[in-house]
Amino acid sequence: MKVGTVNYLLIMTLDVFAAGTDTTYASLVWSFSELIRHPRVMKKLQQEVTKVAQGQSMIYENDLEQMEYLKATIKETLRMYPPIPLLIPRESMQDVKVMGYDIPARTQTIVNAWAIGRDPTLWDAPDEFRPERFLNNAIDYKGLHFELLPFGAGRRGCPGVQFAIVMYELALANVIYKFDLALPDGVKCEDLDMSETNSITLHKKSPLLVMATQRRS
Ligand code: HEM
Repeated sequence: MKVGTVNYLLIMTLDVFAAGTDTTYASLVWSFSELIRHPRVMKKLQQEVTKVAQGQSMIYENDLEQMEYLKATIKETLRMYPPIPLLIPRESMQDVKVMGYDIPARTQTIVNAWAIGRDPTLWDAPDEFRPERFLNNAIDYKGLHFELLPFGAGRRGCPGVQFAIVMYELALANVIYKFDLALPDGVKCEDLDMSETNSITLHKKSPLLVMATQRRS
């Protein structure tokens, strides 16, 4: 194999590794943070996973299908905290008109998925974490509903979406199935710092510190 090919494969592997781990990890931290801030949602989610698990030692991929509230919680997290808030920049290939604006060829365009997810003309009370908004609702993140674009859309959309969602669902479901999460003594839910980093991937600025206690099944 030529050196150039090896370099290319190495860069691709690192690219996929970076795109695939940092994003999923950042999203999980946001989900745990919002669940701790919203005990009602946490309780509802724990009830769902416990019911579906039926006493099994852990949650498996086959169980996820039945976890509607888990899926809604994940969509709500991705709406409020899209891990790549500005997606990947695009460049127009030809002159186009978009919503009345003339965009010349070779113009770099940036899609602000974060702002779309918080747009009050698209979402009721956009700054509130309410997974219920996604129950009985067809809006999905696969790039066909432009009000929710955490994985981007089109030919440059995230190729890891299916894998990412299964990993995300399994990790979240298993942690809250096995553990109760609480803030350290003296820290109140409303005191949790939810500020965001100003970087390519949207991370929580301060680390999330929680105490995990094993749940009795
Ligand atoms: C919660 C998890 C994830 C989120 C929110 C996410 C989001 C995104 C977004 C927004 C893009 C840019 C798409 C665009 O601009 O239209 C992207 C690109 C990409 N993602 Fe993901 N991603 C996640 C997980 C993963 C995983 C698990 C993998 C691989 C196993 C992966 C691999 C990639 C790759 C290779 C690209 C670049 C695609 C290209 O440039 O054509 N991602 N991702």
